[in-house]
Amino acid sequence: MPQTNLQSIFQNFIKSPTKIFKDRNALSVNFTPSTIPHREKQIETLATILAPSLKGSKPSNVFIYGTTGTGKTVVTKYVTQELEKISLQSLNPVKILYVNCKMKKVADTEYRLIAELCRLLGQEVPFTGLPTEQLYHLFFKLIDARKWVVIIVLDEIDALVKKIGDEFLYNFTRINQELKNAKVSFIGITNDLNLIQMLDPRVKSSLGEEEMLFPPYNALELQDILKQRAKLAFYDGVLEEDVIPKCAALAAQEHGDARKALDLLRVAGEIAERQNESKVTSKHVDMARKKLAYERIVEAVKTLPKHSKAVFWAIIKTIDEKKESVQTGDVYKFYEDVCKNTGLSPLTQRRVSDLIAELDMLGLINGRVISKGRYGRTREITLNLASDVEKKVRELLKTEFESD
Ligand SMILES: Nc1ncnc2c1ncn2[C@@H]1O[C@H](COP(=O)(O)OP(=O)(O)OP(=O)(O)O)[C@@H](O)[C@H]1O
Ligand SMILES: [Mg+2]
Repeated sequence: MPQTNLQSIFQNFIKSPTKIFKDRNALSVNFTPSTIPHREKQIETLATILAPSLKGSKPSNVFIYGTTGTGKTVVTKYVTQELEKISLQSLNPVKILYVNCKMKKVADTEYRLIAELCRLLGQEVPFTGLPTEQLYHLFFKLIDARKWVVIIVLDEIDALVKKIGDEFLYNFTRINQELKNAKVSFIGITNDLNLIQMLDPRVKSSLGEEEMLFPPYNALELQDILKQRAKLAFYDGVLEEDVIPKCAALAAQEHGDARKALDLLRVAGEIAERQNESKVTSKHVDMARKKLAYERIVEAVKTLPKHSKAVFWAIIKTIDEKKESVQTGDVYKFYEDVCKNTGLSPLTQRRVSDLIAELDMLGLINGRVISKGRYGRTREITLNLASDVEKKVRELLKTEFESD
C-alpha cells in the first residue's frame, strides 16, 4: 500500500540517526563566506582602487572579468560592503548600488535598470509609465541630493548589453558631467570574455579605466575553499577523506569553478543523507556529478530558443531515421518539416548551421567539422548524451513538437 510506504519513509527518517549536515545553508549559493581564500590579491587591488572614495574623490571605473564561479561577485560584494561600512566613520559617505543585470524584471531593460537604481536610493518608481528622460532626471536628482561618492555595481552586465546594446553604458559613464554634488563610479562585472570586444571603444575605455581578471581556481585552491565551507556545513568526521579532493578535482577540470565544486559537495551530502548513510563517500560524489550533469542538460534544453529546439529535434529524428551520424544538409530537411508542422517560419540553412554549432558548444551534440573539398565544409553530427539524459530530452522535445 502506498500509504504504509509513505509512513515508513517518514518513520525511518525520524528514527535514523544520520547526521550529515550541521548547516546545509553554508553550501548554498546565497551564503556569504566570512573569509575568501585565494583572492587576497584581487581584494587588495579592488580595495586600493576604491579607497579614494573615502576622501571624497571619484575612484576609477573598474571592469571585472573572469569565467564563471571565480569569485567575482563574492569579492566585489565583500569589498564594497566593507567600504560602505567604513565610510560611515569618515566624513565622506560612500553609497553602493548593487544590481544583478541577469535578474528578470529588475534590470532587463534600461527603464527597469534605472528604476531599480532609484529604488536602491530610496525612491519607488512605477514599473513602466514614466518617459525614460524623466526617469533619468529623477535618478540624477536622487544621486545628486548629497555630497557623496556613489559606486554603481553592474553584475552580469553582459546580459543587459546583449539585450539592449551598450548605448546606456555610454550615457551612464557620462553621468558625472550632470552632477554638482555627487560623484559616481562604476564597477562592471562579466563572465563573458567576448564582451569587451563587443563594446563601443568609447564605452570600453571609460568603463575599463581599471581592468581586473579573476583567473580560474586550481584544484588545491578549490580544496581550501571547500574545506572552509565543509567545516560549517557538515558534522565532524562525516566526510570521507577523498570527498573534498574529488569534488575539487572535478570542478578544476571544468574551468576552476567554485560554484560547481560547492554544488558537488552539497549534492553528495544530500544523496548520502537520503540514503540514510552516516558518511559521505566518493561514490556519492559520482552520483552527485551525474545528477548535476542531468539537471544542467535538461535545463539547457528547456531554455533553448524555439528554433534551436526545433533544430535539436530535427537532429534527433534524422539520426533515428538514418541510424548513423548525419550531416547538416540532412537535418535541414527535417527541420523544415518540423517548422511546417508547428507553424514556425524556417530560418535559412546558414542560420541553422550556426544553431547547430551552438548546440555543439553547449555539449548537447557532437559536431565534427569535416571538409568536403571544393563543396565547402559540413558537420558530422552525433548525439552525445547519457542514456537517462537522452530519454528526458526526447520526452521534452517530443511534447513540444509532436503533441497532437
Ligand atoms: N575564494 C572563495 N572562497 C570562498 N568561497 C568562494 C570563493 N570564490 C567563490 N566562492 C563561492 O563560490 C560561489 C561562486 O562565486 P561567485 O558567485 O563570486 O562567482 P562569479 O565569479 O561571480 O561567477 P559568475 O560569473 O557565474 O557570476 C559562491 O557561492 C561563492 O561564495
Ligand atoms: Mg557572479
